Amino acid sequence: MADIQAELNYEKEVGVPFTDTLTGLFNNGFFQIALEREISRAKRYGGNFTLFMIDIDSFCYYNRRYGPLKGDLTLKEIANVINANIRNVDLAARYSGDVFAVILTESELSTSLRAAERIRCSVEESDRSNLTVSIGLAAYPIHGENKEKLIQRAQDALCMAKLKGKNSVYFFENEIKYADSSRSKVLIVDDEPLNLKLLEAFLIPLEFEVIKATNGEDALALVSKVDVDLVLLDIMMPGMDGFEVCRRIKQKETTRMIPVILVTALNDTDAKVEGIKAGADDFITKPPNKMELIARTNSLINLKKLNNSLTSFENVIFSLAQAVEAKDSYTKGHIERVKNLAIMLGWKMGLSPKEIEALKFGGALHDIGKIGVPGEILNKPGPLNRQEWEIMQAHPYIGYKICLPLQKNLGIALDIIRHHHEKLDGSGYPDGLTANEISMVARIMSVADIYDALITDRPYRKGMNQKNAFKILSQEAEQGKLDKKVVKYLLESRFSE
Ligand SMILES: [Fe+2]
Ligand SMILES: [Fe+2]
Repeated sequence: MADIQAELNYEKEVGVPFTDTLTGLFNNGFFQIALEREISRAKRYGGNFTLFMIDIDSFCYYNRRYGPLKGDLTLKEIANVINANIRNVDLAARYSGDVFAVILTESELSTSLRAAERIRCSVEESDRSNLTVSIGLAAYPIHGENKEKLIQRAQDALCMAKLKGKNSVYFFENEIKYADSSRSKVLIVDDEPLNLKLLEAFLIPLEFEVIKATNGEDALALVSKVDVDLVLLDIMMPGMDGFEVCRRIKQKETTRMIPVILVTALNDTDAKVEGIKAGADDFITKPPNKMELIARTNSLINLKKLNNSLTSFENVIFSLAQAVEAKDSYTKGHIERVKNLAIMLGWKMGLSPKEIEALKFGGALHDIGKIGVPGEILNKPGPLNRQEWEIMQAHPYIGYKICLPLQKNLGIALDIIRHHHEKLDGSGYPDGLTANEISMVARIMSVADIYDALITDRPYRKGMNQKNAFKILSQEAEQGKLDKKVVKYLLESRFSE
């Protein structure tokens, strides 16, 4: 940046503006020239430098609250803080609005990080109505070898700094570690910076990765973008309160499994009742007791890990079930249709949530045993002979054996897998069970399965129309093979559509 003075002299002589009139820093135009120059210098002579993108957190709220005049003054003050914390050889510019850019010449990343932290702390410590800054770093040449790439990386890093709860410094190396990290991520949400600091101080020694948010909107944005393992949520916050944040987390399919601990005032029973209604998993009282906080946090994080493994278990099982369809080319979509039909029947018949869950898993897995049936039999373009039929009839038992180690997770869904071809009169397979030995969920699956098989095309016959399919189902119900009530519900549901 030795040429800066010369540039300023040049500016004086020719009257071309290089400085931002409000803050006195260099303007964006000059910053672009300086960055290009720094890149060619580094290319020519070697060496590193770092680019900072600095953004004032929630500055639009500040402007709205105090007015643009105060806002402009503050911009100027923060510009001065930045300038005071860099060397003469470095360059600070107003990049746009409330975003500043800094070029730290010939500096290693570690030095730059310290400088960025210095700026962040100085802004935080100076008394400006709790204003803070977030800083994104990009180092040449690690993060980019041209101007556009470097600016982009610094802006992306700035975005991550915001996502991590603002008032922080971020660079891409961190992000890589961040994504690969096996450390549990705890999101703490509180509008009071002191409370955030206190919670953070408790959690960091436990090797948790702490992410911060100072309001409900930011907290919701974070949980949908970052794989958070636990949320510690203050109740009383301006704007969206903790109950509403909790409710929204619990309502969304992708975030509902994240445990939420509400931080309440001591003995506030009403808040606890409201919190339970909102779906909170636990409570801690304010001010938090360190041991209590650690115990509750650890136990819920372990639960979340268990749920995660259960979710991946679901994924594995469902992909396995899909693999059957790939093998049996004539049953495309059968599993999904049967599962959905069985769930719908379950709801209509007033089954419990546990039984509906069993229909979901059982529906997805009912034919998983076909993995053990040779493809030539599954895809034979004609009726099966006796021997082939015997092999085919083994699929409920094979499926049962495959899923047996998962008994604890599958519960009565396992019963569906084994008994979805049983008949009430004992003529079904594999166990030849009779009426009261066959569970309601297995009866439902059996009707849904037969109905779907009847109405879809097979290689040796066309799928029949609904009316004929119902005729067959009703006959089987009359003969005491299928559950009459289930058939009746199916009939009603199809004709009411
Ligand atoms: Fe089957
Ligand atoms: Fe089936």
